[in-house]
Amino acid sequence: MENFSKKNTLNLFTMDFDIINKTPLYSAFSELGKRIFLPEGIFFWSGRAKVEAELNGTIGVAYSFENKFIDGGSSNWVPCYIEDVKNYFQNTEISDLVTYASIPGLQKLRENWKKWIIKKSLYDESTQQKEIIKLDKYITNPIVTAGVTNAIFLSCALFLDRSNYIIIPNKRWGNYDNIVTRYLGAKIQSFEFFIDKKFNVKGFNDAMKTVIDNQNKLVILLSFPNNPTGFIPTREEVNEIIDNLKEINSDYDIPIITLIDDAYEPYVFSNQVNQCSIFYDLQQLEENIIPIKLDGITKELLMYGGRVGFATIGLKKKWISDDKELETLKKEIDNKLSAFNRSTLSNCNHYYQTVAMKLIEENKFNDIIKKRDKIVEILKQRYEMINNLLNKMNDPLLTVDPNAGGFFVFINLDPTAISAIDFADHLLKQYKVGVIPIQNLEENINGIRIAYSSIDIDDIPETIKRIGLALKDFK
Ligand SMILES: Cc1ncc(COP(=O)(O)O)c(C=O)c1O
Repeated sequence: MENFSKKNTLNLFTMDFDIINKTPLYSAFSELGKRIFLPEGIFFWSGRAKVEAELNGTIGVAYSFENKFIDGGSSNWVPCYIEDVKNYFQNTEISDLVTYASIPGLQKLRENWKKWIIKKSLYDESTQQKEIIKLDKYITNPIVTAGVTNAIFLSCALFLDRSNYIIIPNKRWGNYDNIVTRYLGAKIQSFEFFIDKKFNVKGFNDAMKTVIDNQNKLVILLSFPNNPTGFIPTREEVNEIIDNLKEINSDYDIPIITLIDDAYEPYVFSNQVNQCSIFYDLQQLEENIIPIKLDGITKELLMYGGRVGFATIGLKKKWISDDKELETLKKEIDNKLSAFNRSTLSNCNHYYQTVAMKLIEENKFNDIIKKRDKIVEILKQRYEMINNLLNKMNDPLLTVDPNAGGFFVFINLDPTAISAIDFADHLLKQYKVGVIPIQNLEENINGIRIAYSSIDIDDIPETIKRIGLALKDFK
C-alpha cells in the first residue's frame, strides 16, 4: 500500500478542493469543516458497480429472487424484505423503501427540492426577474439531512470551532443552545431581539461588532417566522438588516455566514411583513454575505416524523471564473456535506425521501400549495383571534411580542412581579392550560410561548380567559 500514490489511484481517496479552498466560504470553515471530506468508499464503489459490474458484491444489502423468500413472489431480483412490511406501504416499490438512500439524498428529491426553493422565492416567470434566474445557477444542490435540526447541526459544525461565536437573537429556539453550546462547545452572542416592537437593528449591529473583535468571520442564525415569537420582519426591517450586513462587510471584509432556519417558511399570516424567506434577499447580494438555507418537509409539508430536511448554500458569482469551476465548487461542497452525513447518520430515511420526492414534483407544486393553503388559513384565523384577544387584555404585567406567522405567540411577563416558570406551573395546575415558559433573566427573557398551532379556534377564547385569571392570582 505504501507506494500507492494519490494520483495513480485516479484520485479515489480524496478530492483536491482546489476551488473551494480559494473562497471566503472555506476561510469561514471550522477546523472540522476544513478537515472533513468524504473518501470514495462503499457507496462510491457500489454506485460504479451498479453501472459497470456484471456481478455486484459491493453493498451490504440482502438481495434475492422474490419467489425464494416470499410464497407467490415474482422472479425479480429484489432487496429481501419481510412480507408484512408491504402492508403498511401501498403504492411504494420495495426498492424505494427498504434499501439505503444515497449519502447526500435521493438525486431526484434534491432536484425537486431545488425547484421548490426557486418556487418559494415567489419568482414570477412572467416578469422575468433576472436576478432570481441566477438562483438556479448559484445555489448548491440541496443536501438531504435528518430534519431541519440536523441541517442546523451540520451547518453549525461546519463553521464553529469551540472558541467561535454565533450571533442569534435572545428569543430563540432552545435547541440552538443544545447544538451550539452543549454539543459543539461554541458560544452564542445573543442580542435583544426587539426594541419598540421592531427588530433591534442596533443590537444586531453591536453583536456583530463585538464578535468581530474575537474572530475573523461572522456566523449568524436568523429564523422567520420565529420560534418562539412568531416574528417576521417587514420589508423595511429586512432592508435595514441588509444595510447593516453590507456595512459590516465593507468595513471589515470578512465572510458573513448567515444560517437561515426556514422551518416555518410558508406560515406568513400578514401582508404587512416580508412575504418570503430572507435567504432570497441575501443571495442577491454581491458581497460575501453567504446565506445557507435550512428547511425541510417537517412543517412545510406537515410531515414532522419524516425527518427529511435540507441544507442549501448560496454561492457568489465572483468566487469562480467560469461554469466549469462552478460545477467543481458544487461538487467539492457536496463532498464536504456528504462527509457529515456519512460520519453521523450515513444516509437519511429512504421511504420519506421517496414520499417527499413524489409530493413535490414540479407539476404538483400549485396543487400542493393549494391544499396546504387550507391549513395555512386555519392557522391564520387562530393567529388573528389570539392576537385580538391578547390586545384587548391590556394588562400592565403582560406584553406580546410582534408576530405575523409561524405556530406561536410569545407573552412577556413582568419579571418583577411574576416568574414565567411559576406562572406556567400555576396555569397548568390550577387552570389546566399548558404553555412553554422561557425564563432566562440574564438574557432578559421571562415569558410564555403559546403554540396556537395546536389549539382549536373555538378554544382560544377560553385559553386566553384562563391566562387572564391566572394572571390575577399573581397580583
Ligand atoms: C425554529 C425551528 N427550527 C427547526 C426545527 C426542527 O425541525 P425538524 O423537526 O425538521 O428537525 C423546529 C422545530 O420545532 C423549530 O422550531
